[in-house]
Amino acid sequence: MKRVLVIMGSPRLGNTMRAAQGIEARMQGLGEVVFEYCMLRDADLARCRGCFVCFEKGEEYCPLHDDAPGIERRMHEADGVIFASPVYGLNVSGLFKTFVDRFSYVFHRPRFFEKKALLLTTSGLIGDREVLDYLDRVARIWGFEVAGRAGLIIPPCPLPEDKARRNQETLDAAARAFHASLHRPRRSPSLHDVLLFHGQRATFRELGERAPFDHEFWKSRGWLEENARYFVDVRVNPIFHAIGSLAERYVARQVRRDCAGWQESEV
Ligand SMILES: Cc1cc2nc3c(=O)[nH]c(=O)nc-3n(C[C@H](O)[C@H](O)[C@H](O)COP(=O)(O)O)c2cc1C
Repeated sequence: MKRVLVIMGSPRLGNTMRAAQGIEARMQGLGEVVFEYCMLRDADLARCRGCFVCFEKGEEYCPLHDDAPGIERRMHEADGVIFASPVYGLNVSGLFKTFVDRFSYVFHRPRFFEKKALLLTTSGLIGDREVLDYLDRVARIWGFEVAGRAGLIIPPCPLPEDKARRNQETLDAAARAFHASLHRPRRSPSLHDVLLFHGQRATFRELGERAPFDHEFWKSRGWLEENARYFVDVRVNPIFHAIGSLAERYVARQVRRDCAGWQESEV
């Protein structure tokens, strides 16, 4: 039985919740899956205070004592996570953004490599593509394999038949792709994923003592070793590897220059 956790960023039981439940019903039709919902509106998740302690010392030193560690544990226990947010002001909801801010240390120390992600948003008219692109970047950098995305447009007036059908087809396709992903091993990383690996590696190698906690995390996992091609032992397309290695040299040079600039401007 595969476990799916929905991170629900809507403050109400509305369109986004119905869309997630639509995916649940479709996936249950395909078999062997159980859903769990993390309703951010009910979670005790305070806004990030911007103290940098999670980056510099580790997330266990966060001064906020709330549901964050439990939410991370639930993501680890799931096989797949659905990141679900309505479009609010051309972006994710405030609830969802608080969730991302509180897990910002994962951008530095990625970890969800065995997990699949499905991205889900609903909007009245505009902004769904930008939100899906944003969710895509978050999920990938956190280590997820993004298996599908669904953006539903649900205006506050009755939907014309063709648009209603398009939403149903979007849900069908997303549910099928996500369900299939849960029953297969991780795919070979895309060029985008390989570039992310090399870009981050250059950054955390070069930052060294300026970000010792992150540097040590990367080192302890063997990701800074020359022969490491990706976070996990998976086939990497040799052309992607070559492009990633070139990009890594470029990023490393930029980081070195930036660090030199910081030293000069320090008082
Ligand atoms: C505060 C707020 C901001 C919104 N901003 C946008 C927007 O920028 N673009 C858009 O197309 N719809 C916008 N909408 C409409 C919602 O995205 C849309 O109704 C969505 O399906 C609501 O999902 P929910 O029922 O899960 O809350 C907004 C709605 C609210 C309440």
